[in-house]
Amino acid sequence: MTALDQALLAYGKSQAYPFHMPGHKRRFPQSFDPNLMDITEIDGFDDLHDAGGMIADIERELAELYGVAQARLLVGGATLGNLVSLLSHLEPQDTLLMARNCHKSIYHGAILGRLSVEYIYPQALTNGLQGPVRAASVQEALCAAEKRGQKIKLVAITSPTYEGVVSDLSAIAQIAHTHGALLLVDAAHGAHFGLHPYFPPSMADQGADLLVISLHKTLPFYTMTAALLLPDGSWADRERVANLIDYLETSSPSYILMGQAAAALRFLRQEGEARFRENARDLKQFYKACEDLRALRILRTDDPGKIVISCARTSLTGQRLMEWLREEYQLELEMASFDYVLAMTSLMDTSEGLRRLQDALFEIDALLAGEADRRHVLREERQGEQKAICGVDRVIDHTLVYGPRRKILEPWQALRKKWEEMDLEECAGCISRDSILLYPPGIPLVHSGEEITEEVVRYLKMALADGLKVQGLRDGKTRVLV
Ligand SMILES: Cc1ncc(COP(=O)(O)O)c(C=O)c1O
Repeated sequence: MTALDQALLAYGKSQAYPFHMPGHKRRFPQSFDPNLMDITEIDGFDDLHDAGGMIADIERELAELYGVAQARLLVGGATLGNLVSLLSHLEPQDTLLMARNCHKSIYHGAILGRLSVEYIYPQALTNGLQGPVRAASVQEALCAAEKRGQKIKLVAITSPTYEGVVSDLSAIAQIAHTHGALLLVDAAHGAHFGLHPYFPPSMADQGADLLVISLHKTLPFYTMTAALLLPDGSWADRERVANLIDYLETSSPSYILMGQAAAALRFLRQEGEARFRENARDLKQFYKACEDLRALRILRTDDPGKIVISCARTSLTGQRLMEWLREEYQLELEMASFDYVLAMTSLMDTSEGLRRLQDALFEIDALLAGEADRRHVLREERQGEQKAICGVDRVIDHTLVYGPRRKILEPWQALRKKWEEMDLEECAGCISRDSILLYPPGIPLVHSGEEITEEVVRYLKMALADGLKVQGLRDGKTRVLV
């Protein structure tokens, strides 16, 4: 078997084009020799945990770039930012009001903090994707909690989503604040917002108290680099945030990552505008051309940087389309779902890269549309097949896939109970010990302490049949509470 380092080098040198993270797309101009950059906190090189020199400069520059009062550079990803945000403001037994489509790091924070969780479900979009969190849903949930005598201290939502769907932060923040709660926005996918008018505006002035961004997802930063932003007027407690960063982040933060962050900021300053301009031009051209696709379809969201390609009208599954793009065209995408794939772009993409994707989609589309008469039949056949395997249609409503579940125990409590393994086939009606999710996007279909429904079993079987990556199953078995 090839060793990881050799496989990485081979992939890096191959013709494969990365429509996936990180956002530098292997084109960051500065080449670092990790052997030279990798040091520890020797004199003169500052200390991330007590920044006062060069690392403080990076944080100041981040704060300026995003127009916030304070920015903390993180080398543990948005995951760390989410954990810090929750654990710095909530005590055990507190109730967290969170959007159900939050990333698993928010779920993990709730477990570590022994929190009680209540969910807000995002709106359904007509194209089947999970939509924004409505301010009215937040209001309803907060009022309902108050009626139950629960004090919600913090509301957590994801905006933008993986696919680029944005929620109305200003309205949600206002409601949260009226009820005395802080608003944490997991904006892991929005580090590029506000940096060019083609993309959605900055989130800094929309009332969030804690904004978590993954610099590495959509900007030219190395993987794991992220920031926790505290906007002007934030209700967040800076001291507690600092404590939690200190407790949870490694005491040996990587100078390779921090050094690259300094260089990436310089790169954005010097070349960002021109690169964003070219990227916007290429994306506009791409979307215009793709209007002529006949079988495949581009699902537009709020963020044009996320290219969501639906195969729902074809005989293909998302996974098959992703494999087709990889095997025939050497295009490596970020994610496949049941009936769409996601290509992630950044200002580092090339015109040629987008052109390759466009050409590939048209070639595939021509084959699928050439089967126009058969297509209907194929789709029917596929649906029939799927129905036979899983008992559900292929027409996917993602708000149902991630739909409401019955919480029997708090997640942290469920993890302390006795469990046994059970075949997926037989576990409907049981309480899940684990969080079971597709990764990506990392949103649970069923979470620890929730009832596994027939519907969950059907979607999991469909995901396994499609070849999607399912986490939380062991050799196809579930762990259920006894
Ligand atoms: C919405 C969301 N939040 C948080 C994260 C975690 O980010 P990171 O990989 O920077 O830790 C992800 C990762 O994909 C994500 O999709």
